[in-house]
Order: sequence, then structure tokens, then C-alpha cells
Amino acid sequence: MKVIALVGSIRKDSYNRKLAEYVKNTFKEQMDVEILNLRDIPFYDQDIENDPPAPVQELRQKVAAADAVLWVTPEYNYSIPGVLKNVIDWLSRGDRALNGKPSFIMGASMGLLGTVRAQQHLRDILFSPGVNSPLLPGNEVYVGVVHEKMDDNGNLKDEATVIFIESVINNFVKWFDRQATAAASK
Ligand code: FNR
Repeated sequence: MKVIALVGSIRKDSYNRKLAEYVKNTFKEQMDVEILNLRDIPFYDQDIENDPPAPVQELRQKVAAADAVLWVTPEYNYSIPGVLKNVIDWLSRGDRALNGKPSFIMGASMGLLGTVRAQQHLRDILFSPGVNSPLLPGNEVYVGVVHEKMDDNGNLKDEATVIFIESVINNFVKWFDRQATAAASK
């Protein structure tokens, strides 16, 4: 399964990027995860949405070609960062690469709540009709107090978090396979 990971923080030492890298490196047998660089994505502009700059074209092509999207979001002022909202706006237009594309969400913060409010907003946006990305139901990954659970190299050292993320990845793979089987039998 090819998975595109979209990370809402573009800073060098981002915990959320490290979380995406952890998933990429730990679950190689279940999924091929590619983390996209969102730094060069310009602001959404309706005037150029049908002939956007190269980084947007590449973003659209990669998401369209992927089987699923992993969203890894920090929480900025109780919501998702503009980096992610901007990407969603580009992807909701043109060939609408997120339409019907299975998604799952994770997020990490140093606070206790682990991006719970940002993820609630992200779910609302992904369910909006213009986006329409089906989300893995019943599984929510909030990595709170991440600075105590992850070392400098991005290794998760908190056993409960390790086990939990493994269970969510397994649930996602099963859910994805069920959907693919149902689509094939139609
Ligand atoms: C934050 N942070 C934050 N944390 C939180 O739990 N709730 C919030 O509403 C906010 N708001 C917020 C706004 C802005 C502009 C910044 C820069 C930060 C703290 C944030 O969770 C922390 O910086 C994370 O480490 C950001 O994720 P990365 O960059 O480590 O992936």
C-alpha cells in the first residue's frame, strides 16, 4: 500500500515529522510511506488553480497515485496549521485528489492533549463535500507529552504508545483492505 504522509510542521526538528518518519520506518512491511515536503507549496490561488506551480502539480499527482494519506498534524491555536489547510485547499480543486482517498490522522504535541482539537477540525474538513476523504473510523492517535516519549532521533521510547500505534496501523490496513475488496466486488 502506497501512503503519502502530509505533515503540518515544516520546521527541522518537528516532532510530528519525526512521528511520520517513525511510522515510515517501523511499518515498512505493511505500507510504503512517502513524506512530502510541503515547504515549497505556495498559497492557494484560484486564479492559477488549473495550471498551478510545479510543487502543487507534484503534490496533486502524488496524492492521486497513492492508496491512502497519513495526516500528521501539530495543533496551532486549537486548530490545524495553515500549512495543512493550504494543502487541503489545493487538493480539493482541479482533479480533487482527495475525493474518496482513505485517510488516517495522527498528531503529537508537548501538551497533555496531543492535538485533540486540531484533529477534530481536521476530521471536519476531510469530511466536507469538496474534500470527501473517508477516515479510518474509531481510531484516534493523540501523542501528548511527546518530548518525554520520543528521543532526539525520533525513536518512540514509550511502550504503550508503541503498542497503540501498531494496533492503529493494523486496523488501518484491515479497514483499507475491506474497502478495496468491497470496491472490487461492485
Ligand atoms: C503551538 N502549540 C500549541 N500546542 C497545543 O497543544 N495547542 C495549541 O493550540 C498550540 N498552539 C500553538 C500555536 C503556534 C503558532 C505554535 C508555533 C505552537 C505548541 C505546539 O504543539 C508545539 O510547538 C509542537 O512541538 C509543534 O509541532 P512540531 O513542530 O514539533 O511538529
